[in-house]
Amino acid sequence: MVIVKRLLKYYLVILTFHNNNIVDTLIMNETVKAYDAKYKTPNFFSDRSWLYRPFVKALISKAELGSGARLLDVGCGQGFFTALFAEQGIDAQGIDVSSVGIEAAKSSCKISSTRFKVGNILQLPIEEQFDCVFTRSCSLYNTTDFPYDTSVTDQLIRHVRPGGVLIFDYYTRLSENAKSEGWLYHSKAQVKEHFAKYSNAEIYFSLRLEARLLGSFSFSPITSFIANVLSRTFGMGGELVVFVRLDHRACHETRLL
Ligand SMILES: C[S@@+](CC[C@H](N)C(=O)[O-])C[C@H]1O[C@@H](n2cnc3c(N)ncnc32)[C@H](O)[C@@H]1O
Repeated sequence: MVIVKRLLKYYLVILTFHNNNIVDTLIMNETVKAYDAKYKTPNFFSDRSWLYRPFVKALISKAELGSGARLLDVGCGQGFFTALFAEQGIDAQGIDVSSVGIEAAKSSCKISSTRFKVGNILQLPIEEQFDCVFTRSCSLYNTTDFPYDTSVTDQLIRHVRPGGVLIFDYYTRLSENAKSEGWLYHSKAQVKEHFAKYSNAEIYFSLRLEARLLGSFSFSPITSFIANVLSRTFGMGGELVVFVRLDHRACHETRLL
């Protein structure tokens, strides 16, 4: 009887494991299908260089990335942000599950040394490490579990070299009434909860425009506070940005988690 019970227990564990994998694969296939369809439209998100170029320059300066720093843009889509980093002398690479997005990125990026590849960041072998891993509005974070599920961030951090930096960037609106079909507007409190276990995390909110005037000072508590109030009051959209600097100790602790 004991043996039968034990066998049954093992069978249930294996069944659950396989079902989770099947569900993950189905979700990923849907993501690929949806983004492949979207990325047939050039510049699907209508991203504007005049707005984001100063913002990316400010990110580079705040993260202290020197010329030639190696950066991986996770969930790069059509490569808009990867290209902006490359323009600033960063050795940028983009990865995305959408092959249509990656083709668009390859043909639109003017810096020939920029590399793009099709791939699922959750299945990438942890061999390569970068000075910076950047992720902007990756759909892996567009989930209700976001405040407490840190599995994606843990995975991204494994690709950051000791002393390097993770830049998490997520488009959102902080007004309580803001809603968008298919996109969750995470709040600053939710981002805070998500990054609570990463000891070096610095969290800011930026309306992007201030980066033209203030550069890296747009990522300071006071500017972030003002941007926060404006977004809450007038519903303006902006970016929740988190810098996680891995010093050797933090890196060791994080990798143990
Ligand atoms: C909202 S788009 C953002 C694209 C781009 N970062 C931007 O800000 O314009 C989300 C992107 O995440 C990508 N993505 C989702 N899951 C992924 C995964 N597991 N590995 C790599 N990319 C992924 C999607 O294919 C999609 O291109």
